[in-house]
Amino acid sequence: MSEDIKILAIETSCDETSAAVVVNGREVLSNIISSQIDIHTKFGGVVPEVASRKHVEAIGFVVQEALDKAGVTLDEIDAIGVTYGPGLVGALLVGLQYAKGLAYALKKPLIGVNHIEGHISANFIQYKELKPPFVCLVVSGGHTFIVYMKDYGEFEVLGQTRDDAAGEAYDKVARAIGLGYPGGPKIDKLSKEGNPQAIKFPRANFHDDKSLDFSFSGVKSAVLNYLNQMEMKKEEINKADVAASFQKAVVDFLVDNAMKACKLKKVNKIAVAGGVAANSCLRETLISAGRKDNIDVLFPEFVLCTDNAAMIGSAAYFEYMKGNAAPLTLNAIPNLKLGER
Ligand code: KG4
Ligand code: ZN
Repeated sequence: MSEDIKILAIETSCDETSAAVVVNGREVLSNIISSQIDIHTKFGGVVPEVASRKHVEAIGFVVQEALDKAGVTLDEIDAIGVTYGPGLVGALLVGLQYAKGLAYALKKPLIGVNHIEGHISANFIQYKELKPPFVCLVVSGGHTFIVYMKDYGEFEVLGQTRDDAAGEAYDKVARAIGLGYPGGPKIDKLSKEGNPQAIKFPRANFHDDKSLDFSFSGVKSAVLNYLNQMEMKKEEINKADVAASFQKAVVDFLVDNAMKACKLKKVNKIAVAGGVAANSCLRETLISAGRKDNIDVLFPEFVLCTDNAAMIGSAAYFEYMKGNAAPLTLNAIPNLKLGER
């Protein structure tokens, strides 16, 4: 039997400083997440300069805590995995430089990980037997993709957003109805008290039935127009109805394309990834659509949906096994594409 591979993973692409120790890409010994949400909430969104400074303050403590909780010393680590894109450049550089310093000092391989691949990999932690191929719906604050995962680290993008990401639309609509940042969880909660049929917000029409692309800026603008009109008419706005109706438009779009992608690729497995995968309406709607078509719907647990280093440790393991170590000159790539190295 081969020896276990232990990866120390670091993630600092946005507003969470996180470090984890992951064994063989599937078993999490520790997953420490230091969130900056309270600080950014005051500004109504992530302030890149503030995020970088807070990562600098936290990174050393977070890495030490991840090692302590895992009961592992740096000597026992086989490789250092780190997110090098996509994300905020200043934020990425903090984690990347820290990881490079460790890799250099310890003479251990450095594995650069694409943040989106990390999100997808969260499913390998949650479902120990999961193997490609499968379809994955990636829905986060910055990205919305439907991909076909052919093999570990091999992706075919089937569809993507042409404008706003799903999470971004949630955050913008939440701000417009005065719910604050981050908007996704707040709209999710408020929607439970509203009627999703109350207001009909239109979905983008690409005049192409086969397209698996998304567009969320239209529904976002429709909500903003609705709010303006109601204000001009001095009519009372039912925020819960607005939230529920907006959410229905977004979720229906995501679920329809997800089901089309499974049929196109003739697979009966769809995994969901990214912060919006924590959304309760998306979970319920996709699971019930999957049940109708005999498609298994996989969701990682909440803590693995939003940004965390365990998912990076999982993706790093599969790259490590392929011998894909990065040079110490590895730089942060803010707009790194999926499947690109
Ligand atoms: O994946 P993530 O943690 O960070 C990025 O890589 O972008 O995703 C954050 C996004 C935010 O837009 C947040 O509003 C959204 O995920 N989100 C949710 C929920 N929880 C987080 N959106 C809808 N419903 C939720 N329960
Ligand atoms: Zn993310």
